[in-house]
Amino acid sequence: MNKRKFRKANEEVSTLGFGAMRLPVTDPNDSGTINKEEAAKMIRYAIDHGINYIDTAVPYHNQQGEKFVGEVLKDGYREKVYLTTKLPCWDIKEYGDFEKIFEEQIRKLDVDFLDFYLLHAMHKKTWDNVKKLGVLSFLDQLKEQGKIRFAGFSFHDNLATFKEIIDSYDWDVCQIQFNYFDREAKAYLDYASSKGIDVIVMEPLRGGGLVNELPDEILELYNSAPIKRNLAEWSFRWLYNHPEIKVILSGMSTMEQVKDNLRIFENAQANSMPEEEVAIVDKAYAIFKDRILVPCTACQYCMPCPSGVRIPLMFENYNTYSMFGNNEKYIKRYQGWKKREENKFTADQCIGCRLCEEKCPQSIIISERMTDIEKVMG
Ligand SMILES: NC(=O)c1ccc[n+]([C@@H]2O[C@H](COP(=O)([O-])OP(=O)(O)OC[C@H]3O[C@@H](n4cnc5c(N)ncnc54)[C@H](OP(=O)(O)O)[C@@H]3O)[C@@H](O)[C@H]2O)c1
Repeated sequence: MNKRKFRKANEEVSTLGFGAMRLPVTDPNDSGTINKEEAAKMIRYAIDHGINYIDTAVPYHNQQGEKFVGEVLKDGYREKVYLTTKLPCWDIKEYGDFEKIFEEQIRKLDVDFLDFYLLHAMHKKTWDNVKKLGVLSFLDQLKEQGKIRFAGFSFHDNLATFKEIIDSYDWDVCQIQFNYFDREAKAYLDYASSKGIDVIVMEPLRGGGLVNELPDEILELYNSAPIKRNLAEWSFRWLYNHPEIKVILSGMSTMEQVKDNLRIFENAQANSMPEEEVAIVDKAYAIFKDRILVPCTACQYCMPCPSGVRIPLMFENYNTYSMFGNNEKYIKRYQGWKKREENKFTADQCIGCRLCEEKCPQSIIISERMTDIEKVMG
């Protein structure tokens, strides 16, 4: 297993990390029903074959994830890995909650300390809240007490907020969503890296979308490439080509995937992908881009909408639907939003006032596109 060195943490980590969010389950409708026997086999097999970074969090597997990971890491496995869990920042109402939640996490994992502790899923609102309530002093305190070794955050918001968070503390690591489809996140990677903060990648296959949901055009492209690789391998190789990335977390769901990914990462060197192969992945990305229906850049100038429509989100969902081969999943997502009783924000709420259109730098005729979205997805 290829390893890379964290700069601040000064530790050698396996380039492939185990994201314990998509373990096998016995009931597909209940993520809490972890198939413990199979999942334990998979995690221990991965560790026995060189993976030394494990990522979990409070909500994974319907709150059962941390306890299960703790059980799997018995019998000497804890000592073989860097263990990460995350603070569920959305649950923090006052300073005392930090400690209460952390102690509960340590208890569930049944460990004395964590290697990495991340603020989970930071976006502007949660960041402002936990910062105000003193999360940075809390992290300092945990480090001083030896309860965590390194601190970081995982992120889901825009670049401005990312920079603000990066510049607010002496972070050891950050976790971002990055893959060849979501390649705009390279700006985050570059910024963190320029500040000496190492990057851990989540959703490298877009939660499986880059292997399970590709339109025919992209499948044909890969099938006709001179070199034969499976779809996971194309995505992973493109990612680990980036030297700034230290760990790529994969949420493996079967033993076959564990074995396949161990093979793919056996020699995961940065800057190792030949230009001709990078060009093939770039072509796949270009095909995705060509399928975009609305040229929205999510600049948010159109917001707020007087009728409450979350315009950029509507476009993001509509575009993703089209890019991934008119995938039903995004229709279901839309319809789920539409069923909300309060704070309705779907395209059908548009009253055609067109105030947003005056502000759109891309000159999108937003009201007409909202009608299209409702027709297709509603
Ligand atoms: N901090 C955060 O906010 C946050 C958010 C998301 C994720 N994460 C962490 O990041 C980890 C990685 O993200 P992710 O789980 O979305 O990873 P991912 O690698 O993008 O998606 C995992 C899925 O990809 C498919 N897959 C993996 N290896 C494969 C292979 N060799 N061949 C074919 N299919 C393969 C499987 O899908 P199928 O089984 O459906 O085929 C699997 O469930 C998570 O597990 C979690 O630990 C953190």
